[in-house]
Amino acid sequence: MDKHEIVITLTTAFGKAAYRDIKAIKEDIDAICERDPAARSRAEVILLYSGLHALIMHRIAHALHKKNLKFPARAISQFAKFITGIEIHPGAKIGRGLFIDHGSGVVIGETSIIGNNCTIYQGVTLGGTGKETGCKRHPTLGDNVLVGAGAKILGNFTVGSNSKIAAGAVVLCDVPENSTAVGIPAKVVKRDGIKVKPAEELDQIDIPDPIEVEIGALRKRVEELERKLNGDLK
Ligand SMILES: CC(C)(COP(=O)(O)OP(=O)(O)OC[C@H]1O[C@@H](n2cnc3c(N)ncnc32)[C@H](O)[C@@H]1OP(=O)(O)O)[C@@H](O)C(=O)NCCC(=O)NCCS
Repeated sequence: MDKHEIVITLTTAFGKAAYRDIKAIKEDIDAICERDPAARSRAEVILLYSGLHALIMHRIAHALHKKNLKFPARAISQFAKFITGIEIHPGAKIGRGLFIDHGSGVVIGETSIIGNNCTIYQGVTLGGTGKETGCKRHPTLGDNVLVGAGAKILGNFTVGSNSKIAAGAVVLCDVPENSTAVGIPAKVVKRDGIKVKPAEELDQIDIPDPIEVEIGALRKRVEELERKLNGDLK
């Protein structure tokens, strides 16, 4: 490869990366406008939302981290923490449309993975247990996951898509899709819109009817498909 070809290859690569990141940031702004009833204009979101500022700096830091520029990546991440109170390790993989509301005290660990269109409130930790070492120590969130204020999700496991983690919960193991988990340690109290009782509280009367649960899941799926057909979902 001659010099000319190297310059063209690098320019194309950076151009593509910049285009991808600008598109991602645009989607982050759209997500805030859609999900925060308090957001009055795009200008307000761009200028005043610390969650967005942290995310923009993370996208730059993550790009540097992937190019093995670990020190500058970490420096940007620490600067972002100083400015916003939100610490996102440059190694964390974050999907489109994340909304970090209020933000202060949010910590997102190095090997965390966050899907698309998630919402995270202040004081949330996506961390390790302190006992795990090695490649993957932090949680993975599916798409459309909501994590309430102060919730701690600790360890290498998955919170399924469309699930909600209640404010103040401490989650230590997998949470299935379409569920709500509350408490310390967190327990699933709702699945596919139907309340679930912990095994120790079940009696002969309260045992959930598996057919009802299945019908509930199917009803939810049909509603989702109807919304898709009507063009409400992307
Ligand atoms: C969990 C949450 C998302 C609601 O999800 P949901 O699927 O609609 O769940 P429900 O409201 O039906 O609650 C299900 C059960 O969990 C309980 N619950 C809800 N939130 C809880 C919490 N934070 N801690 C403990 N229990 C909680 C409810 O009382 C209910 O209990 P019950 O079945 O005995 O009546 C919501 O309560 C929450 O915590 N949101 C976070 C919002 C937040 O952090 N806001 C900060 C703004 S600054």
